Amino acid sequence: MSTVVIIGSQWGDEGKGKIVDIYTEYAEDVVRFQGGNNAGHTLVVGNETTVMHIIPSGILHPGKRCLIGNGVVLDPQVFFQEAEKLKAKGYFQNDAQLMIDPAVHIIMPYHRTIDVAREKMAGQRKIGTTGRGIGPAYEDKVGRRGIRLGDLIHPERFAEKLREALPEKNFLLEKFLGEPPLDEAAIFDEYRLYGEKLRKFLGNTAKVLHDSIAAGNNILLEGAQGTLLDIDHGTYPFVTSSSTVAGGACTGTGIGPCSIDAVIGISKAYVTRVGEGPFPTELKDETGELLRREGHEYGATTGRPRRTGWLDMVALRKAVQLNGLTGLALTKLDVLNSLATIRICSAYRCDGKLLSEFPTEIGVLQRCEPVFEEVPGWQCDIRAVTDLEQLPPASRDFISKVEKMSGCPVVLVSVGPRRDQTIQISNPFRSKG
Ligand code: IMP
Repeated sequence: MSTVVIIGSQWGDEGKGKIVDIYTEYAEDVVRFQGGNNAGHTLVVGNETTVMHIIPSGILHPGKRCLIGNGVVLDPQVFFQEAEKLKAKGYFQNDAQLMIDPAVHIIMPYHRTIDVAREKMAGQRKIGTTGRGIGPAYEDKVGRRGIRLGDLIHPERFAEKLREALPEKNFLLEKFLGEPPLDEAAIFDEYRLYGEKLRKFLGNTAKVLHDSIAAGNNILLEGAQGTLLDIDHGTYPFVTSSSTVAGGACTGTGIGPCSIDAVIGISKAYVTRVGEGPFPTELKDETGELLRREGHEYGATTGRPRRTGWLDMVALRKAVQLNGLTGLALTKLDVLNSLATIRICSAYRCDGKLLSEFPTEIGVLQRCEPVFEEVPGWQCDIRAVTDLEQLPPASRDFISKVEKMSGCPVVLVSVGPRRDQTIQISNPFRSKG
C-alpha cells in the first residue's frame, strides 16, 4: 500500500534505527539501499541494545523480509559477525528472512587498508572517515573495476577480477601509501568461502520489491548516514561516498520515484557530527558537553565522541527540499530536558550578509556564523510522555517552531531510546483495506 523512505536529515546519527524499528511494524519489507557498515543503527528492545551496521534493522522482527539493495557496499566479514551476534541473541533464526542483491559491491581488504592509510597520510586534512573502506569501495564501483556479490559467488570469475584489481592496489599501497602489499592467495581463500556462504542470500531484490509493491505490501526503505553527508549535496569533501538523500532510495533499489509515497526525515532536537568538516552551530562549551553526556553522543560504529550543537534550521530546510520530506521525526527531545533556554539557528551570517539558504560552497559555509532565536526550555522530565497533549507547553511550542521554520509537519517525536518512549502523531503508512 505504501512505500516509505527514512532519511537522516542531518550528518547522520539522528536515531534512524529506532524509527525504522517502530515503522517496521507496518511494513512487509525493510530495505537498506546505500552505504555499508559505516552505519551504526542502535535499537533498544526492552533492556537490550542492539547495534546494526549492515543488516536492515527490520531483522529484529521475525517474519519481516529484509533486503540489501544494489546501492549498498558489503563487507562480508562484518556481515557474518553481525549475523552471528543476532542469531546468538535469538534474532534472524531463518536465513530466508534476508535477501542480498547480486549487484551489491564487496568491500575488500584493500579498501579498508587504503581508507585508513589515506586518512593517516592526509593528517590535518583528513575527512575523519569510519575507516571501513567505504570510499575506496565506491571508487571501484564507479571506476567499473569493483567486485560484486554476483562475481564473488563464482570462484573463477572472482579469481580473475581479483587478479586484475590487486596489482594496482598493491602498487598504491606500497609505492604511495607506504603500506605492505596484500597477498592474493590469502584474500582469494578467505573471500571464496564468503562467496559460498553468501550464495543462499542472493536474490533479485529489485524484482522482489516490484512484485511486493504490486501485491499491495508496505515497504520501508532504511537510509543510512544523513543528507549533509550526501556525495552530491552534502558538505563535500567532508561527506560519505553514497547518495544518502531520498533519490538514493530509487537508484539503490531499482524502485521508481513515482512508487515512493512518503519520505520521513529524522532530525534530532539538536545537531551532531562525527568526523571533520564545517558545522555552523557547533558548541564547544559546557552546553555542548551536556548534549554529548545526556544524548550519549559517541559513535555507534567507531566510539568517537560526536561534535554537538544547536538545531540548525537552515540545514534542516535544505534537507526538507532535497529529500522532498513529507514528515519529520524529531528525536532526542528529552536530551534538552534540563535546559532553561534553547537556541535554534534561523539563518547564517556570512561576510556581513544574512543567509537563509544553506550555501553550496564549502568555503562560504566555513565562514558562516549562526544567527539564533532563543526559546524557553521546559526543565522537566518528558521521558514518560506518550501523548503530544501531555508534553509541557514549552516543548510543544518548540515542536511547532520546528514545523513552522522547516515547512514540514512533525509526524513523530521520540523522548527516549525505548520503543515505548515515542509520540506518534500521524502514520506515514496508509492503512490497508
Ligand atoms: P566514511 O563513510 O567512512 O567514508 O566517512 C565519511 C564521513 O561520513 C565521516 O565524516 C564519517 O564520520 C561520516 N559518517 C559515515 N557514516 C556515518 C554514520 O553512520 N553516522 C555519522 N557519520 C557517518
